[in-house]
Amino acid sequence: MHVTAIIAAGGRGERFGAGRPKQLHDIDGRSILERSVRLFLEHPAIDDVIVVLPPELAVAPPFAVGQAKALRVVAGGVRRQDSVANAFAAVPRHAELVVIHDAARPFASADLIARTIEAAAQSGAALAALPARDTVKRAASRPSHVEDSGQAGTGRDVLVLETLPRETVYLAQTPQAFRRELLQAALEFAAREGIEATDEATLVERAGHQVRLVTGEETNIKITVPEDLPIAGAIAGRSAPSAARAGVGYDIHRLVEGRPLVLGGVTIPFDRGLLGYSDADAVCHAITDAILGAAAAGDIGRHFPNDQTAWRDASSIDLLRRAAAVVHAHGFEVANVDASVIAERPKLGPYIDTMRRNLAAALGVDLARVSVKGKTNDGVGELGRGEAIAVHATALLYAR
Ligand code: CTP
Ligand code: MG
Repeated sequence: MHVTAIIAAGGRGERFGAGRPKQLHDIDGRSILERSVRLFLEHPAIDDVIVVLPPELAVAPPFAVGQAKALRVVAGGVRRQDSVANAFAAVPRHAELVVIHDAARPFASADLIARTIEAAAQSGAALAALPARDTVKRAASRPSHVEDSGQAGTGRDVLVLETLPRETVYLAQTPQAFRRELLQAALEFAAREGIEATDEATLVERAGHQVRLVTGEETNIKITVPEDLPIAGAIAGRSAPSAARAGVGYDIHRLVEGRPLVLGGVTIPFDRGLLGYSDADAVCHAITDAILGAAAAGDIGRHFPNDQTAWRDASSIDLLRRAAAVVHAHGFEVANVDASVIAERPKLGPYIDTMRRNLAAALGVDLARVSVKGKTNDGVGELGRGEAIAVHATALLYAR
């Protein structure tokens, strides 16, 4: 089943009032927008993601595109429903389900997303919602009588009209998920009838379809006003992934005549060099795989395919720098990396510190966090005969 996610991030955040869209605001090291987009990019049930941004951001999206999953950006409209309609126009025709989520809710769990999708797959339309906990009053406001209230200038009184049976009241959240045809019909119906709504479930209801509720989450708050930030900060701290992640990487290249020997970004004088794609810098390649692996963000071949000429002449130090950006975008920073270079010859000792400096600069970390060690294979096997150089690397990442 093909599932497309739409992230509604086309708003201006007027109530948040920061002078720029609230989705760019940083919570505990990552923007609200990045957090929301990642929920869906990393979700196993989602095939592709469409992010709706205010037009001026859509031309220069504030996040890294180029993930494995198709990630597209479209420009939003004046109302939320206009933004969603623009995104819907970009949903692939073979998508069976569309799940819509407010960028302003960066803490939805993967489980909630999965349950909403599953309910919509069964019933056609579903949304996350929380049962009301408080007693619920319906109210209306009327112009205040200054002499009665004694509060000159407040302008309006809010009066209870009735008390609603609490067990019938649910507070709508996102994600909301729909069969594509059903959502299309609802959007067309709303456009035809001039219906305004702040979520898609309303449009689907109004078009005459049943919508199923799945139990939402207290932590799935919508960040609306600055007062929401302390709560958001607490949730972000609590939901941080496990503090440390480890990864391993390995690479081997054959030594041949007529190639430069490049290791850790250093061109080392030698009568032979490593054969392979780009500069065949096995130290960079092994460390690249170690950091990508620790972030569970794929591997070097996925990010920099060697059948694409764009990467053919790339320096591997540059690929490592790009991989570090991918890891960063996944919410991690490098705690340390360590590599063992198995080379019978040449002696690597004189070049180790320059390699470490190059690697540290590419990773954006202190020199003390980067280790490279040279080793011979004691004359054993192909490595011992000097036919190739191999590198083993480990990386430890911290969640930001
Ligand atoms: N949204 C959108 N397009 C719009 C308006 C809103 O995609 N034209 C998105 C927002 O970016 C947000 C979600 O819909 O992720 C929920 O809207 P809301 O919380 O109201 O955000 P804003 O509209 O940005 O805030 P405000 O109403 O305070 O201006
Ligand atoms: Mg709004």
